[in-house]
Amino acid sequence: MKAVFLGATKGMGRALARLMAERGDRLFLLGRNADDLKTAGRDLEIRGAPQPVETAYCDLLDAASFAPALDAAFRAMDGVDTVVVTAGLFAKQEEMENDAELANRVLSADFTGTVLFCEEARKRLLAVYGLSNKSVSENTGATAGLSSSVFPGNITRTAGQAGSGAPFPSPTLCVFSSVAGDRGRKPVVLYGAAKAGLSQYLEGLDHKYRSAGLRTVCVKPGFVATGMTAGLKPPPFAGEPEAVARRVLKAIDRGRPVVYAPAAWRWVMCAIRKLPRCVMRKIEF
Ligand SMILES: NC(=O)c1ccc[n+]([C@@H]2O[C@H](COP(=O)([O-])OP(=O)(O)OC[C@H]3O[C@@H](n4cnc5c(N)ncnc54)[C@H](OP(=O)(O)O)[C@@H]3O)[C@@H](O)[C@H]2O)c1
Repeated sequence: MKAVFLGATKGMGRALARLMAERGDRLFLLGRNADDLKTAGRDLEIRGAPQPVETAYCDLLDAASFAPALDAAFRAMDGVDTVVVTAGLFAKQEEMENDAELANRVLSADFTGTVLFCEEARKRLLAVYGLSNKSVSENTGATAGLSSSVFPGNITRTAGQAGSGAPFPSPTLCVFSSVAGDRGRKPVVLYGAAKAGLSQYLEGLDHKYRSAGLRTVCVKPGFVATGMTAGLKPPPFAGEPEAVARRVLKAIDRGRPVVYAPAAWRWVMCAIRKLPRCVMRKIEF
């Protein structure tokens, strides 16, 4: 597998990238801090990722960085089959209610920035795999405006099969949303709204492009112990990044459109989605 990561420097992204490194997947890291990216790259090489694990600047709050970052990754790896987005921001509801600038950053990173980054990734993944025997310039829809120099040697592949008939990984876009997007809830009104929009976008993408060969995997973590949740009281069914990563990697390999992690959150949210509004207004969950 050849995977590009946005968010592998910490938390669940780091755990997932480490698992992929251990099985020998080729990795390219995107992020906003060059030193952290370099450290994460060396860590992944030691764990088994083919060298070099290269890096490029990409900030979810800087949309102009998306296309150059993805182009650098696709060029360096001679095509990419998997793009993973674990990057995201969280802030407490009360803090965002009192700080419009903070709310703007969280909403922009978790919805607008992530969606626009996914749009750039989608075009490139489809260009590499979705255009059997067509050049990039011949494609008018999914890949308009992309330079063929970004996709050296890959533009005649179809999903699941290389030109020689050898098995070939399906193009996959795996993005971390959240259970917070499943229902409007008091503690996560703003963060949950961004994640709800993101989950909806990913579902639409899956409906529209799966038949063209693009698999979308929407990850919905419950509470997981990472830097993002440091200082928050863990609820029942809290998880660890390594266990979540194992579950997510299986979902990527199988192309599952939605995965809750830890698994118990699927049933928790199933119950929460069914609660009437009068109950939701009373509880603090
Ligand atoms: N932890 C949970 O309980 C939980 C629950 C539900 C959903 N989620 C979602 O799961 C994903 C991963 O969460 P996590 O707990 O693993 O988070 P984390 O440990 O805080 O790691 C977040 C990652 O996002 C990157 N990042 C943050 N802002 C960025 C920006 N503007 N541009 C580019 N990269 C940026 C960070 O990079 P730097 O090294 O530059 O900081 C870091 O690699 C997030 O989308 C989060 O919303 C988490």
